[in-house]
Amino acid sequence: MPTQEDPYLYQVGFGNRFASEAIPGTLPVACNTPQRCKYDLFSEQLNGTPFISSRASCLHAWFYRIRPSVAHTHLKRLPKTPDLEANFSLGNEKIFFTPQDLGWDALSFPSPSNSVDFIQGWKTIGGHGDPASKEGLAVHVYTANAPMANKAFCNNDGDLLIIPQEGRLDIQTEFGRMMVRSGELVVIQAGMRFQVTLPDGIARGYIQEIFGSHYELPELGPLGSNGMAMPRDFETPVANFDIDQSNWEVVVKLMGNLFVYEQNHTPFDVVAWHGNYAPYKYAMVKFINSATVDRDQSDPSIYCVLTAKSKRRGVALSDFLVFTPKWSVTRNTFRPPYYHRNVATELMGMTYGNWSGSATSLQPGGLTYEPSYMPHGESYARWKEASSIKLQPQWVNEGAMAFMMHISSHVSLTEYALERSGKLQGQQDGLWDDLQGGFMDHLEDINADLQAAGRSGLEI
Ligand SMILES: [Fe+2]
Repeated sequence: MPTQEDPYLYQVGFGNRFASEAIPGTLPVACNTPQRCKYDLFSEQLNGTPFISSRASCLHAWFYRIRPSVAHTHLKRLPKTPDLEANFSLGNEKIFFTPQDLGWDALSFPSPSNSVDFIQGWKTIGGHGDPASKEGLAVHVYTANAPMANKAFCNNDGDLLIIPQEGRLDIQTEFGRMMVRSGELVVIQAGMRFQVTLPDGIARGYIQEIFGSHYELPELGPLGSNGMAMPRDFETPVANFDIDQSNWEVVVKLMGNLFVYEQNHTPFDVVAWHGNYAPYKYAMVKFINSATVDRDQSDPSIYCVLTAKSKRRGVALSDFLVFTPKWSVTRNTFRPPYYHRNVATELMGMTYGNWSGSATSLQPGGLTYEPSYMPHGESYARWKEASSIKLQPQWVNEGAMAFMMHISSHVSLTEYALERSGKLQGQQDGLWDDLQGGFMDHLEDINADLQAAGRSGLEI
């Protein structure tokens, strides 16, 4: 139902074959391309998978629109945007691989004297692969203080997972309208045109862009048919069209380069549509946690909202995990994240609240980076507390929402992230200086155990 925060209507479900018409009877019956559509609408297909794809993986949509999308001027290339990157191959001298864990504070909003819309405010933090090989991803952050005015955007490089941290995004798409706020995520797939306006005046958030893949719900395995992110909690727009014959420009992104074409009418003139290649949003507070309830820890994949396949069989390109309030109840368990070294790279962000007890500093709007194979975990002080505290059922993460992009490949960082952002945190020297290994305090007991087993004691 429409609310004050979100006035729009939605269809619910994940991956459905949706159908929506703003004027009754404008969807053709039992065909997609009648000789002449009702009211002289134009039929147009958009697909997200090649024609020859398995039925289970096939993604496409049919539009019935006032004018076909092809009605526009020639494209012009826009000047290179230095903070936007799409090529993360080794030949690019503007990206860097580092095994150093890093953190960034939240980006500042643009000054009021500097008008920055949603597209102009993208800054690429890092990524791997590239859109041409259709393998890899990019991670961006954005800030904005101005609406896109008679301007739409179309990303030909990949699907966008957008996580607003501050300020709602009022998103008009060819499929209809969505209002997305902090605590929600929105997915807008490759090739879809959309416009973003800012009802709160400013906006800041995160974007994960995937090349050559699409987001899916993770398998549930032994969990069965319920839990985690449930399909009915995903919301897709209903058809909504404008009759607008003013001048518009559409910015297209290809390989990180921006192009623009113009047209004398709105791109948002779709009267009806059907299909399963459609944008959606999801309120992450609806995620159902299913962590361990007796002892020990589950792997963090238990917090996976959406996953995207890589081209390596059985390996995700990226898992998107969310951390929301939950009960922590395990007995005889070191409850904070255990010390670990993962093949995956972890990029964490935070939408709101406090993230405490970690060795890295993470603030709302900030970001942390734990590269592949590098050790991380709680501070020594936190270890001492968590390994000796009397364990009680505890409600944790109240009022907080953090998320992690769990990325299976090495992730390079951009010049912007390392040199120009001004938000890169300094090294936290001395964090482990007071570390005391307690093993040798138990020498007497260790030697007694060794001797009881017929073995020599330790000699110091
Ligand atoms: Fe980790």
